[in-house]
Amino acid sequence: MKNVLVIGGAGYIGSHVVKLLSETKNFKPVIYDNLSKGHKEVSEILNVPLIVGDLGDKDLLKKVFEEYKIDVVMHFAAFIEVGESVSNPGKYYENNVGKVINLLNQMNESNIKNFVFSSTAATFGEPKEEKINELHPQNPINPYGMSKLMVEKILADFDKAYDFKSVILRYFNAAGADMDGLLGESHSPESHLIPLVLSAASHKRDNIKIFGTDYETFDGTCIRDYIHVYDLAKAHILAMEKMIEENTSLNYNLGNGTGYSVREIIETVKKVSNEEFKVVETDRRAGDPAILIADPEKINKETTYKAEYSLEDIVKSAWTWENNKKY
Ligand code: UFG
Repeated sequence: MKNVLVIGGAGYIGSHVVKLLSETKNFKPVIYDNLSKGHKEVSEILNVPLIVGDLGDKDLLKKVFEEYKIDVVMHFAAFIEVGESVSNPGKYYENNVGKVINLLNQMNESNIKNFVFSSTAATFGEPKEEKINELHPQNPINPYGMSKLMVEKILADFDKAYDFKSVILRYFNAAGADMDGLLGESHSPESHLIPLVLSAASHKRDNIKIFGTDYETFDGTCIRDYIHVYDLAKAHILAMEKMIEENTSLNYNLGNGTGYSVREIIETVKKVSNEEFKVVETDRRAGDPAILIADPEKINKETTYKAEYSLEDIVKSAWTWENNKKY
């Protein structure tokens, strides 16, 4: 049995990983979260201990590592708003890089050498290929993506110098909610497409805006690769097991390999919810590439991972959550 400290485990993706870890025989999760974005209800709902603490608090991390005999650390506690990272890069580099260096140093001092890191498709910048695999050049076009790439580079150096092993998982568009209805997406403010369209469908907001209808795509709107948060959680556990068993550092792109346009998302929400709502076409949002689709072949080949859920499953689970939110 390995004890896993899930930093940011009270947030959207972290909480789904905590739930899945608590259902395995081999891993026991503990949540560490400063609750700046996370929800303390997650700990109660999942009956998993919560330590309220900040990534920057080295003394507390040291104490928690010892007290809970931590073997592996997973990190989900990053700021993720691309637009905000452009207007306030200092905030992003401090939290997403500075505090992570702090964490990695403390892990190393405490002799914990296994780490799972949430990275992003935003590390690739403008795609040069139709589908992005792990060999695609990484040239981020915003500080958010750059902050994640910096930690990727730091992790490579930690492996060389300290035999410190990590899994880097680059998410495309995480979406959907727990199939048991216990957990879901609850960002504040919400900027992601699917929860915003669902909130228009439940008439909590007046309309949904399409950011740009003049992209070079089949219907003029941006295309993204949406992956169910449960599939994402499963990939974390499989990749973590491989890292531990083979004592090796790994990296994978996590998407389904299929793209959907903004208009297709809106149509799927209309179909699933059976609701009509206003759609407003507006200008492009700064920093949005036209198309982002993962090539998921590497994780499919190297592990037993197989995505289980389709776009319709994603929207259905998120619609259930939209109407029965627990936090
Ligand atoms: N969009 C709209 N209207 C909205 C919200 C979004 O048209 O009200 C569009 C966006 O312009 C984009 C698409 O819907 O084309 C998806 O937008 P999201 O904000 O849901 O997701 P992003 O693709 O911008 O961002 C996601 C992650 C980021 C990560 C990025 C990597 O949320 O953290 O993928 O490319 F950086």
